[in-house]
Amino acid sequence: MKILVTGGAGYIGSVTVAELIERGQEVVVLDSLEEGHREAITRGARLVVGALADGANTEKVLREYGIEVVVHFAAYSLVGESMENPAKYFINNVVNGLKLLEAMRGAGTGKIIFSSSAATYGSPTRVPITEDHPTVPINPYGESKLFFEKILHRYHAAYGIDCISLRYFNASGATHELGEDHDPETHLIPLVLRVALGQSPSVKIFGTDYETKDGTCVRDYVHVSDLAAAHVLALSCHGEHAYNLGDGHGFSVRQVIDAARKVTRKEIKAEEAPRRAGDPAVLIAGAEKIRRELGWEPKRITLEEIIGSAWEWMEKHPKGYK
Ligand SMILES: NC(=O)c1ccc[n+]([C@@H]2O[C@H](COP(=O)([O-])OP(=O)(O)OC[C@H]3O[C@@H](n4cnc5c(N)ncnc54)[C@H](O)[C@@H]3O)[C@@H](O)[C@H]2O)c1
Repeated sequence: MKILVTGGAGYIGSVTVAELIERGQEVVVLDSLEEGHREAITRGARLVVGALADGANTEKVLREYGIEVVVHFAAYSLVGESMENPAKYFINNVVNGLKLLEAMRGAGTGKIIFSSSAATYGSPTRVPITEDHPTVPINPYGESKLFFEKILHRYHAAYGIDCISLRYFNASGATHELGEDHDPETHLIPLVLRVALGQSPSVKIFGTDYETKDGTCVRDYVHVSDLAAAHVLALSCHGEHAYNLGDGHGFSVRQVIDAARKVTRKEIKAEEAPRRAGDPAVLIAGAEKIRRELGWEPKRITLEEIIGSAWEWMEKHPKGYK
């Protein structure tokens, strides 16, 4: 299959590109490189440096390479920043996403697999969160992802474009070659491992009085290779679908820090801090639907495996891809 991966130089995109290449697919990456890394593009994939704001360029790329499917990762995804500067998020995640869809219509590309998010649900009223849980995002980032899902719904109904939205929970871990290198980094596991590497003095635990077993927030960590595998399965989907991508198990912030201490054999200093606004106590995916319908089975599910893979990559790349 001929596949365009937007944002394929980023964290999850680059691992998915590697997986697609491994399976013999023809991959073109479209990435502005404003966040991503040229070094993260697997050999065999073609890189076109360009921004989705330039819809005419996207349409040209789709035509030139005879693209059949778009896997759409390109977006901004910092929740805190989206509260301060919602315009940045609506413009990139919604307006530029629409430009991509228009380019697809122009070029006759019939399928899109979209990186959606657990942030579309907002504060859960029940866990595990299944796909039929109300979607009431509590920040502009989550709203931008939900708006784009709604746009996809209309594009499917009116123009027959196949739309598969994958709602990721907490992407984590690394492969031997590819890992997480964000600036700024906001994700817990790399932040904890930076302490183990001696790059920061301590990690902050935001909130220790939640109604969870140890008082800290619980999240569903899904290994980035398992996310990539789900995209491969989604290639065969037709119609319109939304699937959660999580393992269905949650780990608390303290459990993550403890597991990281075991894996790295470093002390890892933790500092207790007040709760952050808008952090739900527990986010755990009900991911039965994708298991049942597409046969997805996450393979790297223990914290030790997830953190161990991230640690291996970070030890080899203490400065990221630089
Ligand atoms: N990391 C997570 O835990 C997580 C969870 C839920 C959803 N997601 C979603 O998954 C996707 C990938 O996340 P990630 O962590 O790999 O992000 P990332 O920032 O590492 O990758 C995004 C890539 O998109 C590129 N990009 C952004 N805007 C662009 C544009 N307008 N034109 C061209 N390229 C552009 C960036 O340069 C970057 O390489 C995002 O859509 C994100 O919202 C991520």
